Amino acid sequence: MKLYITSDLHLGAVNNGDEASALLAEYTCANSGPRDALVLIGDIGTHARNFELALRMFKPFRGPKMLVCGNHDIWVEDGIQNSIQKYKLLEVIAARHNFIFLEEHPTTHMDAIFIGLMGWYDYSFRDDIGVPRECYADKLYAGNQWNDRLYAHWRRSDPQVTDWQVRRLKSQLGQSIGQDKRIFVFTHHVPIKKLLKHPRCLVPKKWRFLNAFLGSEEIGKAISRYANFVEHVFVGHIHMSKEVSEGSVRYSSIGSCYNQKELVVYANGRIERHIFSSK
Ligand SMILES: [Fe+2]
Repeated sequence: MKLYITSDLHLGAVNNGDEASALLAEYTCANSGPRDALVLIGDIGTHARNFELALRMFKPFRGPKMLVCGNHDIWVEDGIQNSIQKYKLLEVIAARHNFIFLEEHPTTHMDAIFIGLMGWYDYSFRDDIGVPRECYADKLYAGNQWNDRLYAHWRRSDPQVTDWQVRRLKSQLGQSIGQDKRIFVFTHHVPIKKLLKHPRCLVPKKWRFLNAFLGSEEIGKAISRYANFVEHVFVGHIHMSKEVSEGSVRYSSIGSCYNQKELVVYANGRIERHIFSSK
């Protein structure tokens, strides 16, 4: 079994990025077999119609297809009142294209269990840079804003959304142990701060503020509790190829950015990275 993993296709955002996504999808589908699995780790398309077009590109993939949502995916748009409604719409679109909406339940394929979540942020990644707590809640400081401020509407606070996600993750991990299968976790938001740029003092203050919205330490803590059972964690959202370990858990982030896309192929504990760019 090979795992084909990508994230942050952001279909509809940039023309050459879309061409790169099409090349990635073509390569992935052409190389797939029925024992393989595909996982998209969020930020799949701008607007629901592009989310759907992105899933359609992977139609010929021969094995099971799975996805989790990213923050851009749950942004509200015309006719959608809030992010919960958008999330429900994406679940319907996923089913229409034979994608397993991984967030709802663990999925078993061959000797592996797949657990996925969008994740969120609770400002636990914030650096000590003198920014008042209320600026994080408002996602705005000194003219720098995190765009979820405008388009993600949960009707709950960010820590509440994070708590909802982490409780779901713990429940899924708890259900999955003891089944004598390898466990893979896929999360759009970042579970451990180690995956961000370091040393932090070299990161401009604007980005040190905005990096507070990249993830939550609570996600990593939940995974750590099941460290002996988790084979690998794959992460989207940060547009950066990186490998780190925390205890015995290995984390890999996917390096797709707006102009080029990265496919990670995982087999027998080894990772191959393939970059796709428009010609
Ligand atoms: Fe994202």
